[in-house]
Amino acid sequence: MGEAKKLYIRTYGCQMNVYDSERMAEALAPAGYALTDVPAEADLILLNTCHIREKAAEKVYSELGRLKSLKAGNPDLRIGVAGCVAQAEGEEILRRQPLVDLVVGPQSYHRLPEMEARVRAGGRVLDTDFPAEDKFAHLPRRAGTPAGPTAFLTVQEGCDKFCSFCVVPYTRGAEASRPVARLLDEAQALAARGAREITLLGQNVNAYHGEGQDGASWSLARLIREMARIEGLLRIRYTTSHPNDMADDLIAAHGEEGKLMPYLHLPVQSGSDRILKAMNRRHTAETYLRLVERLRAARPDLALSSDFIVGFPGETEADFETTLDLVRAVGYHSAFSFKYSPRPGTPAAERAQISEDVKADRLSRLQALIDDQARAAQEAMVGRIAEVLFEKPGRLPGQLVGKSEHLHAVHAPADGAAPGDLRRVRIARAEAHSLAGEIRPG
Ligand code: SAH
Ligand code: SF4
Ligand code: F3S
Repeated sequence: MGEAKKLYIRTYGCQMNVYDSERMAEALAPAGYALTDVPAEADLILLNTCHIREKAAEKVYSELGRLKSLKAGNPDLRIGVAGCVAQAEGEEILRRQPLVDLVVGPQSYHRLPEMEARVRAGGRVLDTDFPAEDKFAHLPRRAGTPAGPTAFLTVQEGCDKFCSFCVVPYTRGAEASRPVARLLDEAQALAARGAREITLLGQNVNAYHGEGQDGASWSLARLIREMARIEGLLRIRYTTSHPNDMADDLIAAHGEEGKLMPYLHLPVQSGSDRILKAMNRRHTAETYLRLVERLRAARPDLALSSDFIVGFPGETEADFETTLDLVRAVGYHSAFSFKYSPRPGTPAAERAQISEDVKADRLSRLQALIDDQARAAQEAMVGRIAEVLFEKPGRLPGQLVGKSEHLHAVHAPADGAAPGDLRRVRIARAEAHSLAGEIRPG
């Protein structure tokens, strides 16, 4: 172990970045780094960035601007940019921002200790290769550190779908699945350290096809069924799924595997077939609706969420209204919606663009509809019993908060329960962003 140094990581973007940030902290621990929440105390600052929309990418440069004074006051401070902006912009970051010492893409985190030594010695390092090896094989989790009640576990990374708006296939590379044995080991270790719920992550998580212990290729459903046998692990979720990879065995698992939670994030992006085609989504609104029907036949109380893009190039008012129709037909528990953001290097960025005003108008109309549905889903819980996995203390003394099977935030007086406990809670009322209830005995 080296002398104690402090590492500050700021994470942007999706859950996979959250997972990666934990792995980076663990990779740097043997080099003597302990995490801090205070940037001014840090010897090394890493920005784990997101490139998905223009605003996300801009945040990096404004944050780097803010770090200038820290670096001026501490010549030993080293600053690194990781994540999808690092992958997409690479050397350009070093050119634009002299204060950056290190640019590291998502496939190279296992080489961080070696890179750290080079920047410590005064070098500037750029590593955005896509190496053939599994980076996670070289990023062991430290045994013994307690895990929270909920944990992320990346099982698949990258994307071969090339939706015409999206940077992910360029920033995360080709689809790759981690081997089953490693994932079961990691899940086992997480459960042993206190994790009660694991969310399996992938850009196209349901395209998972990792090598099984028997040498065969395993589907996500098979992985979930095997993981469900781990003692102490009470819940499994997965995200994000593509409609075209929703295999029969995965649909069936929703009806059969008790630990698999009845919640599915299944992005559709648009309700217009014309726009779906222009997005290169390779499915129609009708095939999506039929898929939703089959999922609900397998698991009638399945809660659905989605992502939507409004103002995609060529989207007319009529196209947009079919998106509203689709939302009405499905009935979502929640959904994210975004104004289309042209991304450099993607095909849709080259097309004629919709005006900002139109995008803003459509976004607010879609969000109003989604908010109505989310509120209705919350209110439908009043008077009912939810199974809640408590995660942490609530806002008020003596209170705990956690999540229901359907991913509703629920708070209740602790009544002897602690974070990590699964309890039946009678829902008394729906508040703005959560449900309030009381733990039932037994
Ligand atoms: N792999 C997932 C999520 C990808 S990114 C999937 O296939 O659905 C998360 C969401 O960001 C996408 O679902 C999409 O709705 C949105 N998004 C991606 N690129 C975008 C862009 N250029 N402009 C606006 N939203 C975008
Ligand atoms: Fe992006 Fe489409 Fe791949 Fe999802 S499926 S990561 S939206 S290219
Ligand atoms: Fe953003 Fe990269 Fe995730 S672009 S959404 S951090 S995969």
